[in-house]
Amino acid sequence: MKAPVKVLTEKLKIEPYASVLCYPKASKTEIESRLEELREHGVTAVEFAGEASVFNVPVLGKGFVGIVVIAYLGEERAALKIRRLDADRLGLEHEAQMLAKANSMQIGPRLIGVSRNFLLMQLIQGCLLPSWLDSHKDKGQVHHVLGEVLEQCWRLDSINLDHGELSKAPKHIIISKKQEPFLVDFETASVNRKPANVTSMCQFLFTSHGVVAKSVAKVFGEINRAEIVDMLRRYKSERKRENFEDVLQACLG
Ligand SMILES: Nc1ncnc2c1ncn2[C@@H]1O[C@H](COP(=O)(O)OP(=O)(O)O)[C@@H](O)[C@H]1O
Ligand SMILES: [Mg+2]
Repeated sequence: MKAPVKVLTEKLKIEPYASVLCYPKASKTEIESRLEELREHGVTAVEFAGEASVFNVPVLGKGFVGIVVIAYLGEERAALKIRRLDADRLGLEHEAQMLAKANSMQIGPRLIGVSRNFLLMQLIQGCLLPSWLDSHKDKGQVHHVLGEVLEQCWRLDSINLDHGELSKAPKHIIISKKQEPFLVDFETASVNRKPANVTSMCQFLFTSHGVVAKSVAKVFGEINRAEIVDMLRRYKSERKRENFEDVLQACLG
């Protein structure tokens, strides 16, 4: 990991920081207006740290819509999602609305603030599920964390909020240092689709043949794929607690 650097807001107009804030390329007007937007949120400094990197600057994460870094609101630290200039979204307001709805069910990082180009939320320090699974092999602990992930998916299903990117869950589940799972990135979430959080997550964790499903299977032993698929089918046709518990049972025993 590259060494973290803390940069005061007024110094963010210097390269390469300006281009991280205005990814992929900063112009004078864009960086000036973004810095004003940041000041309105009360962001006093940004810390560049993390496993991902942009222009050789360390960041918490990078996706197709945003780049996530650490922001300082005075003493308080938060996660700051920066809208990429080349994102196919005009603003982050929709994501904030979806995250607020998830927060109402105690899901996701707590929303702090939003504007067109910035979303501030609770900073989740920890690691993404795939690398967490690489270093956590204790059956009881993995059982607890995955059970909690599925419970969160059940709560999202129950308020008809479809996350939409749980099949790409490797980058969308962070396990905090307190061993609590957080679902992130509500950018493609919607209340206008049939929710498929539990089913997508179970496929991702258990029935797919992906890397994560393989690590999970190593911890739990061979899974009964046919039974899980059958329970998910029943859950899909009638979304009720009893059917969800059968899914849990089939997946986690
Ligand atoms: N609140 C947060 N705390 C810590 N890291 C985060 C937080 N939110 C997102 N990240 C990291 O940043 C990455 C990119 O964020 P994401 O919201 O998925 O952006 P995109 O919409 O562009 O895919 C995530 O995969 C995750 O690693
Ligand atoms: Mg993402």
